[in-house]
Amino acid sequence: MLEAPPLLLAAFSLGLVLLVLLLCHSYSGFLLICWNEFVLQPLYNLFMGDTKEQRILRHVLQHAVAGDPQSVLEAIDTYCLQKEWAMNVGDKKGQILDAVVREQRPSVLLELGAYCGYSAVRMARLLEPGARLLTIELNPDYAAITQQMLDFAGLQDRVTVVAGPSQDIIPQLKKKYDVDMLDMVFLDHWKDRYLPDTLLLEVSSAPTWSTWASVLVACRAPQV
Ligand SMILES: C[S@@+](CC[C@H](N)C(=O)[O-])C[C@H]1O[C@@H](n2cnc3c(N)ncnc32)[C@H](O)[C@@H]1O
Repeated sequence: MLEAPPLLLAAFSLGLVLLVLLLCHSYSGFLLICWNEFVLQPLYNLFMGDTKEQRILRHVLQHAVAGDPQSVLEAIDTYCLQKEWAMNVGDKKGQILDAVVREQRPSVLLELGAYCGYSAVRMARLLEPGARLLTIELNPDYAAITQQMLDFAGLQDRVTVVAGPSQDIIPQLKKKYDVDMLDMVFLDHWKDRYLPDTLLLEVSSAPTWSTWASVLVACRAPQV
C-alpha cells in the first residue's frame, strides 16, 4: 500500500482545520444555537429537573407584576437576554409588531406559533376593547405555558390559545372557533408552513379576510 508523504498529510490536515474554522466562522450563530439547544439545554434540563420554558414562566411569576403585560414582556426579555436565549420575537422585532397592530387595529387577529406567549402578550395588550386574538401552538406544553403567561398578564379574556398543528386548526376556525373574518395574521411558526398555511387560510373552508391587512413574517434569529 502507498503511504502518503508527510508533507501531503500535513497540508491535508491544515486544509481540514481551515475548512472547519471557516464553517464555524460563517455559521457561528447557527452553530451556537445548535450547541445550546441540542447539547447544553438538554443537560441543563436534566440537571434542573424542568424545562427552559418553565424557567421563563417562573422568572415572570417571580419578577413581573400580575395584570401588567409590559412588566411580563420586560421580564421575558431580561431573562432571555441574560440567562437563556429563547425563540421569542423579542423587543427589537416586537416594536415592529407593535407598530403594525397599532396601525391595523385588528378586531380579529390570528397568530400561528405561540411558544411561551411573548408575542401573544405583546399583541393582545394593544387590542382595542372587544377585539380578540386566537393563537395556535403545536406543542401542548408550550400552549399551557402561553395560557399561564396570558392569565398572569391579565389578558386571558382577549385571547384564545389553541393547542394543535395549524394545518388542522385553520380549517376548523369558522365552525369551531367562530372566526368568520380575519383582519391580521402573524405567522411565526416553522417557516415551511408559512406558504401552505397562507394558502389554507385562503380556501373556502377557512375564514375570509376583511382585507389582506398584513402577514408578518418573523425570523427566528437571536435577539441582540
Ligand atoms: C418562533 S416560535 C414562536 C414565538 C412566538 N411567536 C413569540 O414571539 O413569542 C415558533 C413556534 O411555532 C410552533 N409551531 C411550529 N409549527 C407549528 C404548527 N404547524 N402549528 C402551530 N404551531 C407550530 C412551535 O412549536 C414554536 O413554539
